[in-house]
Amino acid sequence: MLCNKRSLLLLSLGVAAISWIYAEETMSIYRGTVWFIKGMREYTKSGYEAAAKKFNEEDLKVDCTGKSYLITGSNSGIGKHAALELARRGGTVHLVCRNKTAAQEACDEIKSETGNNNVHVHVLDISKPRDVIRFVQSFTHELDVLVNNAGCMVHSRELDENGLEKNFATNVVGTYLLTKALLTKFEGSSDPRVITVSSGGMLNQKLDAEDPQCDKMKTFDGRQVYSQNKRGQIVMTEQLAKAHPNVHFSSMHPGWADTPAVRTAMPDFYNKMKDRLRTTDQGADTIVWLAIAAAAKKQPSGLFFQDRTPVSTHLPLAWTKSTPQEETVFMQKLEDLWHKFNRVDCQ
Ligand SMILES: *[C@@H]1O[C@H](CO)[C@@H](O)[C@H](O)[C@H]1NC(C)=O
Repeated sequence: MLCNKRSLLLLSLGVAAISWIYAEETMSIYRGTVWFIKGMREYTKSGYEAAAKKFNEEDLKVDCTGKSYLITGSNSGIGKHAALELARRGGTVHLVCRNKTAAQEACDEIKSETGNNNVHVHVLDISKPRDVIRFVQSFTHELDVLVNNAGCMVHSRELDENGLEKNFATNVVGTYLLTKALLTKFEGSSDPRVITVSSGGMLNQKLDAEDPQCDKMKTFDGRQVYSQNKRGQIVMTEQLAKAHPNVHFSSMHPGWADTPAVRTAMPDFYNKMKDRLRTTDQGADTIVWLAIAAAAKKQPSGLFFQDRTPVSTHLPLAWTKSTPQEETVFMQKLEDLWHKFNRVDCQ
């Protein structure tokens, strides 16, 4: 009898465990499917063209003379195109890139195409926290707009000397430290804005506040880590908006665009989708709109945009919402890193 009770208990524990695992997997398949169907409709070139019918052409007729823009990862792809559009409108543009040669080539190209000579190159790898702090200390210009566009998708687990995983160090830590440190440069601006280029892939991820750099992930999956980082950028943007009401923060999804980063980081995706991908202009459009349009500024700070429209940061019924406590834990981890790298640099 006792034995039977025990086996019954074990059996029911087993069933509970199996249904839990099954539910997790079901949820992940559900999210992925809903997301892909949404992506095929909205993130593609045709998705852009449909959305663009509602755009107001006047929004981007802005004179940017006298304004200063800093864009990370701006030697290629949508970052470079956004820089070009801002330079075309007379803005002073700071290209912040890892590769000096590539950045200088992009700079020369932007100058000759726009006739605007106020385009400057700065060399920085944002995955290196101390370099980020030093860069900002030596950056003597005033700033109106920061575009956090640099990102990476590395497919193996690489830890730096601080124990920071490469994707997390670049996409989350670098973005956070650069944004926090540059806030002091906005003080003279009448219209300071920060735009962070996230990704729709984050809709598949719930914030993992306890393990934001995916140390516990058994088989390292670069795409999943990247999506987790992109979810982190959404939460970060919402929280920075609350903490700094004088600056207008937004995050955005460029859609699926044909860029060198997509070709190299996701070759399979690129090959399957290449006929449907957006051009770099289409991918960069909402970045430029968020950076200069008066209409963008009328939206509340902290929102997530797709094709000039604030959109939900969660798929329906996808269970990706984090609690306020989880978001506090996540932000505290970033704050701790901010203090760690600032303090070390001062000594
Ligand atoms: C830097 O950019 C140049 C010019 O695009 C390229 O030839 C070179 O391979 C790049 N270096 C690295 C380390 O990626």
